[in-house]
Amino acid sequence: MTEAAAILLADPLDPGSDVAVYLHWPYCARICPYCDFNVVRDRGRVEEQAGLVAAMLADLEAQAALIGPRRLASIFLGGGTPSLMAPEAVAAVIGQIGSLFPAAGPVEVTLEANPTDAEAGRFAALRDAGVNRLSLGVQSLDDEALRFLGRNHSADEARRAIALAGAAFDRLSIDLIYARPGQSVADWTQELRTAVDLGFEHVSPYQLTLEATTAFGRALARGTLVPPDEDLAAALYETTQTVLSEAGFEAYEVSNHARGIAARSAHNIHVWRGGDYLGVGPGAHGRLTLDGVRTATVAHRRIGDYVAGVAGGSPWAEEDRLDDAGAAEERLLLGLRTVEGAPMAAVEALGIESRVAGLAEDGFVTVAGGRVVATVTGRPVLDAVLKVLLT
Ligand SMILES: C[S@@+](CC[C@H](N)C(=O)[O-])C[C@H]1O[C@@H](n2cnc3c(N)ncnc32)[C@H](O)[C@@H]1O
Ligand code: SF4
Repeated sequence: MTEAAAILLADPLDPGSDVAVYLHWPYCARICPYCDFNVVRDRGRVEEQAGLVAAMLADLEAQAALIGPRRLASIFLGGGTPSLMAPEAVAAVIGQIGSLFPAAGPVEVTLEANPTDAEAGRFAALRDAGVNRLSLGVQSLDDEALRFLGRNHSADEARRAIALAGAAFDRLSIDLIYARPGQSVADWTQELRTAVDLGFEHVSPYQLTLEATTAFGRALARGTLVPPDEDLAAALYETTQTVLSEAGFEAYEVSNHARGIAARSAHNIHVWRGGDYLGVGPGAHGRLTLDGVRTATVAHRRIGDYVAGVAGGSPWAEEDRLDDAGAAEERLLLGLRTVEGAPMAAVEALGIESRVAGLAEDGFVTVAGGRVVATVTGRPVLDAVLKVLLT
């Protein structure tokens, strides 16, 4: 375990009793051709959106009553595009969460934002509404790549948004998408270095995934979109690690790099540690301990179904009680992506100690201090490591 991970573990968030909140705002100005999140085009339907906010407030209250008194760990407003939410609505949900769950101290409140001029003009109002960390979906700093990704902003517009975000927020994260068709190691190195120089404390570089249900997925099936081959994809991943590490970022999770421990996302850490979180909004996932049983919840995906569900007493389309093996498996899947790793108790619950020992012998994981951690060799091939462990 790295020294940084040890420091982090010395200050646990007590995931058993603390609760985080994930709130999903499904509207987007334009639907990107690679995106398979639960999103709808924002057609400015003010009444529908006001109805959704009211349903979210009611949902929060009902879920709080269900889980009983808890301390607040963090808030994450994701989407979709929550930077399109009215700041008054953002203030209302943050206020509701604060009144339902007391916090021991300052709480991280992240909001995902798209870097258009229109949204950047509202960053200060979003800060005043209670947001204290912005995750900017820049995706690329190259105009041609942004056009390919179907984005509704240019690289210059993104730079203006970054400047305004920096003026409004102390904590800034940037999302980038790499392994795009035709992208070379040299291109990516340059783009990543440029992004790092813009002063973010946190970088989330995501390898482009091509889901079958998206426009890009269909183009892949037709053969009109050709992603990088396996070797190039691996080289681009290595480049990401090298450039960010040289710039002082630690990969505290496979796709999350922070400049120092304070720059890590408290919300993500809580989730990866197996902490409880409420999922609020259409299609939102949650994890709650109900009557001592870890329960996975998924809200209705369609806005109308969600609003009707809340009014009718259940926002959830799915509610699965995880058995001990299911909970342990999830703990391993999430933990092994991070520098903290997963507790050996999860390995023991699954009875897979010998598989872990074999992987440790081959250098893919280490076991120390009651935890199993993926090594630098194991992380890039985590899917294969998990296959060995869980098949
Ligand atoms: C759900 S999006 C919301 C953020 C915001 N709406 C935006 O687009 O900037 C969160 C992040 O997921 C990443 N993402 C979404 N679809 C992806 C895909 N198919 N491959 C890689 N990254 C993806 C993007 O980097 C995006 O910023
Ligand atoms: S990537 Fe962001 S803006 Fe694009 S459709 Fe998905 S959530 Fe909306």
